[in-house]
Amino acid sequence: MFLQLGDPAPDFTQESTEGTIRFHEWLGDSWGVLFSHPADFTPVCTTELGMVAHLKDEFAKRKTKVIGLSVDPLDKHKGWADDIAETQGARLNFPLLADADRSVSELYGMIHPNADSTATVRSVFIIDPKKKVRLTLTYPAPTGRNFDEILRVIDSLQLTEYEKVATPVNWKDGDDVVILPSITNEEADKMFPRGYKELKPYLRMTPQPNK
Ligand code: BEZ
Repeated sequence: MFLQLGDPAPDFTQESTEGTIRFHEWLGDSWGVLFSHPADFTPVCTTELGMVAHLKDEFAKRKTKVIGLSVDPLDKHKGWADDIAETQGARLNFPLLADADRSVSELYGMIHPNADSTATVRSVFIIDPKKKVRLTLTYPAPTGRNFDEILRVIDSLQLTEYEKVATPVNWKDGDDVVILPSITNEEADKMFPRGYKELKPYLRMTPQPNK
């Protein structure tokens, strides 16, 4: 199954390093990030999981819960968690699914047979509080992800959910944003009291409204 933007995020029940996870119930009304790894005791994944542990407060600020997945069993995850703490300076502080039966991997299309017929690729799903998929991202096994980018996308999704704006190239929280082309100048005058710069009729820049 390949999930597309706006699709409902499938629910599942699976074991994890923090006990049994009933995914939708666990998400509650938070945003969520579900991300997969090729296997336990692999070098790139070790650095990624350490980084996500370091970023706990950043995800919490965005009311976002994170959950990892690897297709190895729980006892292996527990041994690996010690290595992550030892080498990355941060202990796992979010659940890591033990998807040994590959049920979640298959539900989310995390196994790409042209890459590897059994191991998961590096998938990321951002899920909103209505349990809709809002971002999908797939990296190949040897390429570690940039979790600052994941946080940046969450900032953009949370901003553009409520304001009639979009975020331009390399935008980061606090930078100017783009007014949606569907908004007329008359509407923009009322909506954006700090004004805007019209570079083209379809390209109008304004300070980030919620800052
Ligand atoms: C890994 O750490 O997951 C990895 C490293 C090299 C190739 C493939 C995977």
